[in-house]
Amino acid sequence: MRSPADTTSVSQWTIGVLGGSGLYAIDGLKNEQWVKIDTPWGDPSDEILFADYGDVRLRFLPRHGRGHSLTPSAVNYRANIDALKRAGCTDLLSISAVGSLKEHYVPGHFVAVDQFIDRTFAREKSFFGPGCVAHVSVADPICPRLSALAAQAARSAGATVHTGGTYLAIEGPQFSTKAESALYRQWGCDVIGMTNMPEAKLAREAELPYATLAMVTDFDCWHPDHGSVDVASVIAILQQNAATAGEAVRTLCETLSGQPRTACASGIETNLDVAIITPPD
Ligand code: ADE
Repeated sequence: MRSPADTTSVSQWTIGVLGGSGLYAIDGLKNEQWVKIDTPWGDPSDEILFADYGDVRLRFLPRHGRGHSLTPSAVNYRANIDALKRAGCTDLLSISAVGSLKEHYVPGHFVAVDQFIDRTFAREKSFFGPGCVAHVSVADPICPRLSALAAQAARSAGATVHTGGTYLAIEGPQFSTKAESALYRQWGCDVIGMTNMPEAKLAREAELPYATLAMVTDFDCWHPDHGSVDVASVIAILQQNAATAGEAVRTLCETLSGQPRTACASGIETNLDVAIITPPD
């Protein structure tokens, strides 16, 4: 996994953004160029948009491809994370639509989640395997520094942002049954989505600090005063919030521009040093 860009002494922020449609239009980007990146894991979802904002480098990957042609299960998460690593990213920000499992997380709000429960089952979840076995810790799957920066940027962009929360990842593509939704609420989950796992796990294996800004689009199907979730209402809320999400990314870049990047205190960038169990030949 190590690439020339993989060093803990990097001094320039290179923010990889995994997100959906609507994020392409960020004011103030310079040197925009879509670049195809090959990986040993197959094709990423799309080309990556390389751009600069001040002295921050931005790398944007549409998670489902431009035109949204990939289901959550069909996304090649390994190729996406590897391509962003090869693109020189120092940090990864996921911007994702989610359903709310809590009364006070209402459509239009953002949640800077800090935990995940992974209920996906039909996805490749590791870069490691036969020949080289590694067990990374994902006890704290979110980078606290990037998450705090992203939450602050989203607030500055005008969003209501909740700090902390558990994201329940389902396989999809169907939404949940009422019984499932009630169960996830009993588990204490806050939001539900289909994409952030195994993304967050793979980011950790790639030694990339990862944070999620989850955009609430619906109440899933548990809420007595709201109907079951449907794509039209999810898209309507997403479209209303795309500009805010884009503005959050722009504000994040503005905040980081001119600031040298230091290594994460949490040691994410070196976690493989203690994770590989297979002895070297
Ligand atoms: N994405 C947006 N809303 C969702 C929901 N209710 N369940 C799963 N993924 C979602």
